[in-house]
Amino acid sequence: MTQPSFAFEPHATPVEASERAARIVNPGFGRVFTDHMATIRWSEDKGWHDAKITARAPIVMDPAAAVLHYAQEIFEGLKAYTLPDGGVALFRAEQNAARFRRSAKRLAMAELPEDLFVASCRELTLAEREWIPAGEGSALYLRPFMIASETFLGVKPSAEYLYCVIASAVGNYWPGGAKSVSLWVSKEFTRAAPGGTGDAKCGGNYAASLLAQSEAIRQGCDQVVFLDATERRWVEELGGMNIFFVFDDGTMLTPPLTGTILPGITRDSILTLARDQEITVREERYSIEEWQADAASGRLVEAFACGTAAVVTPIGKVSSADFSFQIGDGQPGERTQALLKQLTDIQRGRSNDPHGWMQRI
Ligand code: PLP
Ligand code: COI
Repeated sequence: MTQPSFAFEPHATPVEASERAARIVNPGFGRVFTDHMATIRWSEDKGWHDAKITARAPIVMDPAAAVLHYAQEIFEGLKAYTLPDGGVALFRAEQNAARFRRSAKRLAMAELPEDLFVASCRELTLAEREWIPAGEGSALYLRPFMIASETFLGVKPSAEYLYCVIASAVGNYWPGGAKSVSLWVSKEFTRAAPGGTGDAKCGGNYAASLLAQSEAIRQGCDQVVFLDATERRWVEELGGMNIFFVFDDGTMLTPPLTGTILPGITRDSILTLARDQEITVREERYSIEEWQADAASGRLVEAFACGTAAVVTPIGKVSSADFSFQIGDGQPGERTQALLKQLTDIQRGRSNDPHGWMQRI
């Protein structure tokens, strides 16, 4: 077991308390950052070293740093919450640690020990606990990431890495606090192919999704939904969220983890919560034709997207170049709202945590 120990170099001029309080009142998503960051370096000769919490500051690197050319980069996203008794807890951080390690392996990067990942999140959150927003739907969003920092233009795994965690006070992921969202089915673009990096959380996957996402916005939709790259038929996931379907017989379905979709921790939590209530949830392929037909016949009654940033978001409408359909009455469905409540009640310490998902720090 690694014994992580983070040197703490406090910010010389942190944001003043009154200014901080004003910034975290409706923070939106991803624009309000805290004072500090955690960093750890890795090199072939020293391994993991130089763990510290310092003032959040620009990262200086050589223009030939490998990440700038070959995109050897991975990241995570997880949240810290304030509990009713004033304590602070992370949600399933060990799962993010394990996924980060799997992403590192897929991108041929140094694998950060899981206890070091969790410790970096804990230490940064403790340093920034005053930044955790209190409002419903808000949290401190932690963004651990790792970049290839070796100065070298040859195409090979980097001999040096910089691991970093930044923190952001966040509220609703959707601009305007959308209650349900509309999806655009991308016919032209796919997100991930078999054997590729679809199940790793690497920046390149997101870069590759942006054109399709822009197309969705241009078509008046909130998000793109991707089909599989081989048959262009099976529903996979959104640009940054997994997807669930709810049927009129009460059963649910989510696409299986076959290597081209991200194994979401929210997805896993929803599966667990649903199965705890003896709801049948199938992890099976679901085609766009079935989706369209089931929505028309009323067999499909709800659909929702889920992820750390977006939590559980109802899907109201689905469009593509040749069709457009509504799901149910287009409004948030009962099952979707119940699962959202069950999940957020656990995360906010308002209900029992039977699976030990909240880690007090
Ligand atoms: N799918 C993609 C492509 C994502 O970026 C995310 C977000 O992290 C998810 C799914 C949901 O994963 P999680 O629930 O672990 O946040
Ligand atoms: C998250 O949910 O944490 C993600 O990384 C998704 C991203 C679209 C913000």
